[in-house]
Amino acid sequence: MTFPILPEQASKIATQTDNLCWGLVSISAAVCLIVFVPMIYFLFKYRNGHPADRSPSNLPQTRIEIAWTILPLLIFMCFYVWGAKAYFNIERPPPGAMEINVIGKQWMWKVQHPEGNREIDELHVPVGRIVKLTMTSQDVIHDFFLPAFRTKQDVVPGRYTTEWFQADKIGTYHLFCSEYCGTSHSHMEGRVIVLSQADYQAWLTEGQPGTTLAESGERLFRELGCSGCHLGQSVIRAPPLQGLFGKPVPLNDGTVVIADEGYIRDSILLPAKQITGGYTNDMPSFAGRVSEDELLELIAYIKTLGSQSP
Ligand code: CUA
Repeated sequence: MTFPILPEQASKIATQTDNLCWGLVSISAAVCLIVFVPMIYFLFKYRNGHPADRSPSNLPQTRIEIAWTILPLLIFMCFYVWGAKAYFNIERPPPGAMEINVIGKQWMWKVQHPEGNREIDELHVPVGRIVKLTMTSQDVIHDFFLPAFRTKQDVVPGRYTTEWFQADKIGTYHLFCSEYCGTSHSHMEGRVIVLSQADYQAWLTEGQPGTTLAESGERLFRELGCSGCHLGQSVIRAPPLQGLFGKPVPLNDGTVVIADEGYIRDSILLPAKQITGGYTNDMPSFAGRVSEDELLELIAYIKTLGSQSP
């Protein structure tokens, strides 16, 4: 019978994080031993009444002081560099990621796949693929925690945060909310199901709703009347959206922003916040009229316009 100290490792990041963790535990243990073993020895050697040599030492005190200041500094700077590299790995999704949206709410996780599949408290992914999650919350702060992949990220209302992982083992893994979010916080859990490529395709086709996320977004774009100003011949009053996603946008106040998910979200909910250069603020706010699910659908649609030329 085994007694695991750490959760199962199911991604490269997990191995990397555990190595760092064990590295820190080892160096801390070594420092503890170096301090406590001589301390206990001297406690006995120089105890009251024990005959020991107590004459002043003639060791080079200054050099010893400098050595035991600089050596540990160098050793711990190595850990700093090691940790920083691991952190950048966790924070920066590699290119070519498969994108999946996650919405947290009291007390469940809602997942949207680009193909249109939706699930609750479950996330199906293919093995070996880089998966990037774009996440937001409908109410309070939650936190999407995948122990087997050693990754977690706060899920914050009013903005998008991201998290990525690459599962390298087929299996079912825990998903937890790790930010206290109210009465049923401890029940806000689920499963990540890592499938083979073929099984994942089969799963997608089986649950295929007939409309992709971008198609739902396009329908919404017309229903809400966005297309009246932002598409076709009407783009005199409003900025055209083709080729917009991921590009820099010069604003009226002279600053330049990148048209990412957060920018598009703000432009829909708080249109007066950032006005595109050369335009006036004619757009009404859609705050309260579109849900978090719908916002992500609209963004998925605007992303598909990204590859077309204006
Ligand atoms: Cu959601 Cu804790």
